[in-house]
Amino acid sequence: MSGVFISFEGPDGAGKTTALNAVLPELQKRAKKEIVATREPGGSPIAEKIRDLILDVKNLEMDDRTEALLYAAQRRQHLIDIILPNLEADKIVISDRFVDSSIAYQGGGRQIGVDAVTSINDFAIEGTMPELTVYFDVPSEVGLDRIKSNRSGTEDRLEKEKIEFHQRVRDTYMKLQEQSPDRIQVINANQDTLQVAQDVLELIITKFPNLFN
Ligand code: TMP
Repeated sequence: MSGVFISFEGPDGAGKTTALNAVLPELQKRAKKEIVATREPGGSPIAEKIRDLILDVKNLEMDDRTEALLYAAQRRQHLIDIILPNLEADKIVISDRFVDSSIAYQGGGRQIGVDAVTSINDFAIEGTMPELTVYFDVPSEVGLDRIKSNRSGTEDRLEKEKIEFHQRVRDTYMKLQEQSPDRIQVINANQDTLQVAQDVLELIITKFPNLFN
């Protein structure tokens, strides 16, 4: 497969989606291949339907393992519909979240365990992993404050979780980063958005010098 797969990861309120939107035009201008930006949960019609189901605030009684399986299910569909076809077409695919989110949120946050969540995701992704994961690190309190001030009371079901949940998510991300320091590169997301975007741009271009002018 000739394309390049990149994921963006981080706790809620880390600003990864804002940074992605900010860097995309410049990246595309300089890239020698076409860039496709996508996201999880969602990214394709069936996967977006599963996203709505998972994040619906009415589904408060959803079992933790059901949630983990639904995330893995939407990932499988997203992989088949969007990620693999675009990698086969030699494009750069940037996904706002991928499998590390499940390991951090369901494995760590929900305390299902890293091994159990990794194994259901192995079934879903069959070995497809990003070459680079840009991890946006921010203290949990800062992330949650950002969500509250930006969205004025419209948090989704996962954002409503208490601070301890979000701290476990961040701790798990950091353990994953220690285990895969080449793939998972850290961005200090506790800075102003312009600086974060600049750091992301530099990181991606430095990692793939042959892909960009
Ligand atoms: P978003 O805010 O980046 O759109 O993500 C929606 C929520 O879904 C966010 O709270 C993180 C969560 N999530 C998981 O818990 N597990 C996953 O596998 C993914 C992709 C997202």
